[in-house]
Amino acid sequence: MLKGKRILLGVSGGIAAYKSVEIVSRLRKLGADINVVMTQSATKFVTPLTFRSISAGPVYTQMFDEPKSWNIKHIVLAEQADVVLVAPATANILAKMALGIADDFLSTVLLAARSPIYVAPAMNHAMYHHPATQKNLKILRERGVALIGPANGFQACGTEGDGRMSEPVQIAEELVQFFTGKQLMEGQKVLVTAGGTREPLDPVRYIGNFSSGKMGYAVARAFHEAGAEVTLVSASVDLPVPAGVQAIKVLTAEEMYHEVMKAFDGQDIVVKAAAVADYRPAVFQGQKIKKKSQNLNLELTPNPDILLSLGQKKKHQILVGFAAETHDAVGNGMEKMRKKNADILVVNDVTVPGAGFGTDTNIVSFLFLDGRRIDLPMMSKLDVARELVKEIAFLKKVK
Ligand code: PMT
Repeated sequence: MLKGKRILLGVSGGIAAYKSVEIVSRLRKLGADINVVMTQSATKFVTPLTFRSISAGPVYTQMFDEPKSWNIKHIVLAEQADVVLVAPATANILAKMALGIADDFLSTVLLAARSPIYVAPAMNHAMYHHPATQKNLKILRERGVALIGPANGFQACGTEGDGRMSEPVQIAEELVQFFTGKQLMEGQKVLVTAGGTREPLDPVRYIGNFSSGKMGYAVARAFHEAGAEVTLVSASVDLPVPAGVQAIKVLTAEEMYHEVMKAFDGQDIVVKAAAVADYRPAVFQGQKIKKKSQNLNLELTPNPDILLSLGQKKKHQILVGFAAETHDAVGNGMEKMRKKNADILVVNDVTVPGAGFGTDTNIVSFLFLDGRRIDLPMMSKLDVARELVKEIAFLKKVK
């Protein structure tokens, strides 16, 4: 997808430099040629050798290295790049860019560059909100420099707030979008399930769970934002259907099973965020069950496992499950992913404050079949959903 595209990556000195190794890895998998320029401070966090090994290309750190060919390296690098990315972009490099200071290799390349420049700021939240940094960012924006992030969340200094570098997948996808000019999910048909199923016992009672549908609705919205055609199969949710999304309302796990199976063949991606009841009452009592003084025993019978059935049936589809866990979230999630043949499993420990049922935020890990795992900090359910969309887009490209 990025074959023949030349990307110049500038790495400045912040702890997020280690994440830039993953950006290089992702872009290389898509075929890009990557040159890396590191500041001296950046080399204290990650060695040039690490970037050289991952990029399979040269890594520049010194202005006055012995030239390997007779050209002025910083000018050539600046001229050759189709796009320049600075990640992490510290407050210091942003200030130098804004003022046109060229006192090391990276700042000199940036001053000479005529191709589009993306920066992914990464710094402590007080530094990010400082008027000097905000002014520098404003100058850069007005000059046409594109900003990626920063994100909000846990910071290396132990605090929380704005200033965290965006996740590598998000940064890589911004560049893919720059080169392809396409929305991430253009032409993709996506089925999302949301909410909690209800299993009636009698005309007035049911067995249910605490799902509000917020997570699934955020997933549907994020896919629609990314240009997909989205169908949402929704159980017992009291939320407005996101604009542009087609919703099918269901009550029980069996109804959800039938709607999902009916639509499955025509889909490219299925995300099962719904909390589906594993059991339903063996018998539905046509009349309200009368109160008695003795114990009441209920017989339950298993519901179909929708995700498992989809995993057995899938052909080209990417299948994503969620797992609501209360202990050993990752271990249990891995087992579920393998058993149900999902491509990605999103696990949330629903006992942790700020995660799981009913909240506006979630704390999740993405598990992948190849053993990879990405732990996200607490973020809004919509941001979790946007991260998921980018991971799926990446998986589709490398699959
Ligand atoms: O709706 P919110 O209030 O925003 O809360 C979000 C959430 C906690 C519901 C969501 O983040 C979540 O974890 N959803 C999955 C809940 C769940 O049912 O987990 P599970 O571990 O029981 O199931 C694993 C997967 O199998 C899920 O994708 C589930 O949809 C699927 N499943 C389960 C049982 C079944 N009979 N059929 C299924 O398809």
